[in-house]
Amino acid sequence: MNIRSVVQAAQPVGTLNSFAADVIAGLTAQPKTLPPKYFYDLAGSALFERITELPEYYPTRCEIAILHKNAPAIASMFPPGSALIEFGSGSSRKARILLDAAATVAAYVPVDISGDFLQQDLAQFKRDLPHLVVHPLVADFTKPFAVPPRLAALPRVGFFPGSTIGNFEPAEAGAFLRHSGDMLGAGALFLVGVDLVKDEATLCRAYNDAEGVTAKFNLNLLARINRELGGDFDLAAFAHRAFFNAAQSRIEMHLVSTQPQKVRVNGIGIDFGRGETIHTENSYKYTIESLQALARGAGWTAAEVFSDGLFAVHALRASGIRNQGAPDP
Ligand code: TRP
Repeated sequence: MNIRSVVQAAQPVGTLNSFAADVIAGLTAQPKTLPPKYFYDLAGSALFERITELPEYYPTRCEIAILHKNAPAIASMFPPGSALIEFGSGSSRKARILLDAAATVAAYVPVDISGDFLQQDLAQFKRDLPHLVVHPLVADFTKPFAVPPRLAALPRVGFFPGSTIGNFEPAEAGAFLRHSGDMLGAGALFLVGVDLVKDEATLCRAYNDAEGVTAKFNLNLLARINRELGGDFDLAAFAHRAFFNAAQSRIEMHLVSTQPQKVRVNGIGIDFGRGETIHTENSYKYTIESLQALARGAGWTAAEVFSDGLFAVHALRASGIRNQGAPDP
């Protein structure tokens, strides 16, 4: 993907203030944290794109291969004339694999909070799949959102790739699955890509690449605070650290202060001890069974799972009695 083709939505009023407030709250907490949603400014998005191409970072390659290999089987599960609703817009390449195999899909609805849709990709979709209605939505997909009225009557297929579900706390992941089930409606299909629990060395390598791109991605959070909030973080005095927390089944990403230091952000002084960390993100890893149990608890039935042993694409069906289509909020 070409990052220059990203069209950024105007900054909503209050965004800068909430960035400042979230950063100060996180850095004055004990232990210190920063919200991972701020990783994805233009520089961060470009770095993330590079992560997905690293030799050590297997999930993207695995997921794309699984989708290619199983596209006809996955497409055969789609109700005819459905709307493919993608949660998060960074992966139109993956949606494209499904759309090429599922010729009856009537509409593609990528949903993203930032509005940073890759216009070039969307224009290409319209050219190559002229029957397809492409309708990007700017919305926070972790909360209920309205499907465009002209598409509201179509059966819905949800698509949530990239193991992004693993970046939620398990309780949040369960709540997200429950809400998305209410939104997608009774009988809906939901395709969820999830990284699998595996040997620690493989997991750790994926988040500690030799080229240091993941470190740059992590440190970009501090660079962004310097750029946008007038912070004075010395990036050379912080180190990227990622490790597997087996008890919690998650990769943890931290930024470690390599020396005692004081940093100023927005006029506020923040003290760091040597070795003190800022916890920036978790990436939970699930077994096939643990993800299915989470989904069952949120009103989904496991219909099928497509896996290469490293990564899993789950096909879930909304079970029980639900609203057919979301009541528009
Ligand atoms: N959700 C993916 C994962 O956890 C991608 C991702 C999110 C990621 N944040 C990241 C990858 C930070 C590397 C570093 O693997």
